[in-house]
Amino acid sequence: MKLIFATNNQHKVEEIRSIAGSAFNIITLKEAGIDIDIPEPHDTLEANASEKSSVIYQMTGINCFSEDTGLEVKVLNGEPGVKSARYAGDNRSFDANIARLLSNLAGKADRSARFRAVISLLIDGKETLFEGICEGKIIEEKRGNKGFGYDPVFIPVGSDKTFGEMDMEEKTNYSHRARATEKLVAFLNSL
Ligand code: IMP
Repeated sequence: MKLIFATNNQHKVEEIRSIAGSAFNIITLKEAGIDIDIPEPHDTLEANASEKSSVIYQMTGINCFSEDTGLEVKVLNGEPGVKSARYAGDNRSFDANIARLLSNLAGKADRSARFRAVISLLIDGKETLFEGICEGKIIEEKRGNKGFGYDPVFIPVGSDKTFGEMDMEEKTNYSHRARATEKLVAFLNSL
């Protein structure tokens, strides 16, 4: 089955392709010849994911899915959450976002946090949502330079490494995106 993955984030594409395997022909926006930055204007991950998949489905008529992720930090009342990409401003700098996060957590004893990913799948115009959660904690200084986003400061439960210190295969054992993608693949296989 051919599916467009409505993202411009190459890290996400590689992570999802490695889990979905070769049973599905997942093509990126670039490979579909689409050069747009889809807006994420809503205040929930679910609404943003739905918007992204429906924009692409309306443009192409091809079955597609999108994914939206937020980092939810307990003592920050779930922030940055849906604002994770632009936590420190509209230029979406990973370094500036991490700096703001570490500064807001300075002196806090409870550093527990979780990533939550929501996938919106549109098959023949009908939507199904899938959620994946990865519990963990935010450390005080960056470690590792793999991955993207908040990976260098996040340690998942069950590991002593940050996502930034893990190869993609190892991150997949823990990650929110992997959990949501496994549900997506199970659903597609059941069709
Ligand atoms: P998006 O809106 O789903 O693209 O993601 C929002 C922001 O969350 C991204 O800009 C990253 O900073 C962060 N993010 C999403 N997924 C991950 C991940 O797997 N690791 C680290 N940060 C992530």
